[in-house]
Amino acid sequence: MRALVYQGPGKKALVEHAKPAIQNATDAIVKITKTTICGTDLHILKGDVATCTAGRILGHEGVGIIESVGSGVTTFAPGARVLISCITACGRCDACRNSMYSHCSTGGWILGNTIDGTQAEFVRVPHADTSLYALPDNIDEEDAVMLSDILPTGYECGVLNGQVAPGSTIAIVGSGPIGLAALLTAQFYTPVQIIMVDLDDNRLEVARSFGATDVVNTTDGKARDAILQLTGGRGVDTAIEAVGIPATFQLCTEIVAPGGVVANIGVHGKKVDLHLETLWSHNVTITTGLVDTVSTPMLLRTVQSKRIDPKRLITHRFKLTDVIAAYETFGQAASTKALKVILEA
Ligand SMILES: NC(=O)c1ccc[n+]([C@@H]2O[C@H](COP(=O)([O-])OP(=O)(O)OC[C@H]3O[C@@H](n4cnc5c(N)ncnc54)[C@H](O)[C@@H]3O)[C@@H](O)[C@H]2O)c1
Ligand SMILES: [Zn+2]
Ligand SMILES: [Zn+2]
Repeated sequence: MRALVYQGPGKKALVEHAKPAIQNATDAIVKITKTTICGTDLHILKGDVATCTAGRILGHEGVGIIESVGSGVTTFAPGARVLISCITACGRCDACRNSMYSHCSTGGWILGNTIDGTQAEFVRVPHADTSLYALPDNIDEEDAVMLSDILPTGYECGVLNGQVAPGSTIAIVGSGPIGLAALLTAQFYTPVQIIMVDLDDNRLEVARSFGATDVVNTTDGKARDAILQLTGGRGVDTAIEAVGIPATFQLCTEIVAPGGVVANIGVHGKKVDLHLETLWSHNVTITTGLVDTVSTPMLLRTVQSKRIDPKRLITHRFKLTDVIAAYETFGQAASTKALKVILEA
């Protein structure tokens, strides 16, 4: 089969690779129909993710058709159309029983990280019963691919952790796919003000069309003042960090109102300062987390009932055989205006 293989920092190739086989009774082999590229794949290619080593097939998002199942799989049979979660969960360990699938003792984020992933014609999914989701017939595959990672991440790590509530004010710092996913799902709770922040006017324009009430381009370094002005000097009830650099985390702590929440989503590769000398008296809560994908069934229902339309995040479509071009397009978002790219296997 064809597969996109990480070959060490800065190197990747589309290669001919052995098809995966069942290794454990709880595995399923899924024939990929659609997959995508995540910002995290770019982090891996930069060499930022030490757990992912050369030779690994990348990708942790996708939909497909079950090709075969191990003898212990009871929920799915060959031919079933499924959504692959970016998080693999056994459903039985202490973390899973505590709804923290991301910390599953034999799962978590392993696809396209510590085991071969979805940017291939076939993938082996461990703990298939509890890591795959049946796709109802009336769900579009492109919508579903957005539910492997992006939507649950924006919703769980941003909206739920950030306690977005009716009538509240929020700011989302970072208008990439994750920030935009938080924007889409925050609207379940009817906040009255959603301020989107980015350096890229194109992404801010997209954010406006997705329901942002205000946008702030922070290129001039004055986002804090602009947001305080937009909120009558008070700041926001929820500040969602969706970039992953020290400056944007600090901005979130400067714009959160007393009693509010800073919900960090961004993956931080560098040391970040926490200014408790000012925050200690502000009654703020700071949350962190890796997505658990516990919200996937709920999100599937909202897509099915057309309450949200995640396909709007898709800007480009490629064949899997053109995956290298797809990475180029995705990696140069400022010039290509790419958000999510679909790879069709
Ligand atoms: N916690 C989790 O489970 C989890 C899961 C998936 C992704 N992530 C992380 O979420 C973050 C966002 O992901 P993404 O795919 O949307 O990334 P992305 O790189 O596409 O988007 C980041 C956005 O931030 C903007 N930006 C950069 N510097 C900025 C600044 N100084 N001020 C304001 N905006 C700035 C960029 O223009 C871009 O639009 C990444 O760090 C990613 O690794 C976390
Ligand atoms: Zn991802
Ligand atoms: Zn588990």
